[in-house]
Amino acid sequence: MSEKIVIFDTTLRDGEQSPGASLNVPEKVEIARQLAQLKVDVIEAGFPVSSPIQFEAVERITDSVDVTVAALARAVEPDIKAASDALKKADSSRIHTFIGTSDIHIGEKFRDARYGKTIKEKRISILKMARDAVTYAKTFTDDVEFSPEDAGRTDINYLAEVVEAAIDAGATTVNIPDTTGYTMPAEFGTIITELRQRVPNIDQAVISAHCHNDLGLAVANSLVALQNGARQVECTINGIGERAGNASLEEIVMALKVRGEYWDFHTDICFQEIINTSKMVSAFTGLIVQPNKAVVGDNAFSHEAGIHQDGVLKDKRTYEIMTPESIGLSQTRIILGRHSGRHGLAARMKALGYHLSEEELGQVYHMFLKLADKKKEVFDDDLRALMGDEIFRHQDHYELDSFHVSAGTTTPATATITLKVEEKDIRESANGDGPVDACFKAIDRALDHDTNMESYQVRSVTAGREALGEVIVQIREKGQPFTGRGVSTDIIEASVKAYLNALNEARAAADGPEENLKSAP
Ligand code: KIV
Ligand code: ZN
Repeated sequence: MSEKIVIFDTTLRDGEQSPGASLNVPEKVEIARQLAQLKVDVIEAGFPVSSPIQFEAVERITDSVDVTVAALARAVEPDIKAASDALKKADSSRIHTFIGTSDIHIGEKFRDARYGKTIKEKRISILKMARDAVTYAKTFTDDVEFSPEDAGRTDINYLAEVVEAAIDAGATTVNIPDTTGYTMPAEFGTIITELRQRVPNIDQAVISAHCHNDLGLAVANSLVALQNGARQVECTINGIGERAGNASLEEIVMALKVRGEYWDFHTDICFQEIINTSKMVSAFTGLIVQPNKAVVGDNAFSHEAGIHQDGVLKDKRTYEIMTPESIGLSQTRIILGRHSGRHGLAARMKALGYHLSEEELGQVYHMFLKLADKKKEVFDDDLRALMGDEIFRHQDHYELDSFHVSAGTTTPATATITLKVEEKDIRESANGDGPVDACFKAIDRALDHDTNMESYQVRSVTAGREALGEVIVQIREKGQPFTGRGVSTDIIEASVKAYLNALNEARAAADGPEENLKSAP
């Protein structure tokens, strides 16, 4: 009998810490529902103490899915209490508490003399904090996970002591994070083996691996951890996450499936949902999947060289180790057009993994009809882009009424924008370095606001001259990043929508309660 591997998805927690990714609560709920369809075992939904939005997201997710929901907490009581409060409604919940254990983390994050003066003294305090945190978390739920942060660079003797103390206090999962993506596969495998040999109570907990991709080794390290006795992996869709990201869920589960005879492990993943999940996460986070990304990249199943094409025509197995269908990519494209009715659209949205209320479906249908008027054929990726653009986003504060631009090689670009702000029309004009810049300047002038724009990206959603263009804009307001998205067959309109969307997200956050923590773990 092959052994089951627990898939712990942290797209909504570590994944959301990706530079440039920012999800609002309805988007997180929608992704969580899709993760449930994908049949992951645990969804890490957020870090509740860090902000009211994180708290609300965890709470709403517990209400929306029938999967174990985990919430992150530092090894201190207020964090653990907040995690437990946010998880209250869950049928099955896990508190995940962590503390840094490498000398660099101990020395720098716990500089205060109350933790001790020397590393030796501080290590004693950290071990006690780990034990106390697990003991406290156990008063709320039986399912407690403990992570010694930066385990990959932690002295193995000390790591074994902390892990033993956490299990002794009741941790049911001990997660070993390679927080900085520093370890080599053989080294990481040895850490897991050593822990199994040195920690006397290790068989009372599931060993988990949590690998970052700074050296491109996150998936390899996760697999080698399984080979050495871990039975849970922590991963994210499309490998998104801090810096270079986390181990990619789709790569791990497909490696276990495609090489089943090598591993003798299984997961409960519903593989046909992989592509929908990947595309949904990309549309909502605005993080575009690189074309050559394993499993879910646009080129993952394309064969360019003549010899390859010839081979594949003769027998796909010559150059394909897995089929597109196995991850839910259909060879027959379903195309909608202006005559497709609301029912046809509803069925397609459902097949793409979206759960829409009647009102939301009405909004998508309206956008779809507008698009179908301009574009004969509406593809799945167009529908996904529409979802990423408006449905779950704050649109209400600054609304676009109309714009006019004039630009060319011989005249300076000029834009006139009319916005609706709290029922009032505001019209302003500005010159700029091209029509998009002129529009952005006119918006800044209309709102009497100077925005710090960090990035502007534009891409075509599908091929062809009438393709939908997608613009992703990132701005920073009071130190916080906000992402805006806009889609339209007109790239200037898409840009204006994306900029206003980012401003609306920033405005909604400013109107909401204060953040409690400025930095993520
Ligand atoms: O990378 C890391 O160490 C983490 C922990 C909070 C588990 O994300
Ligand atoms: Zn991490």
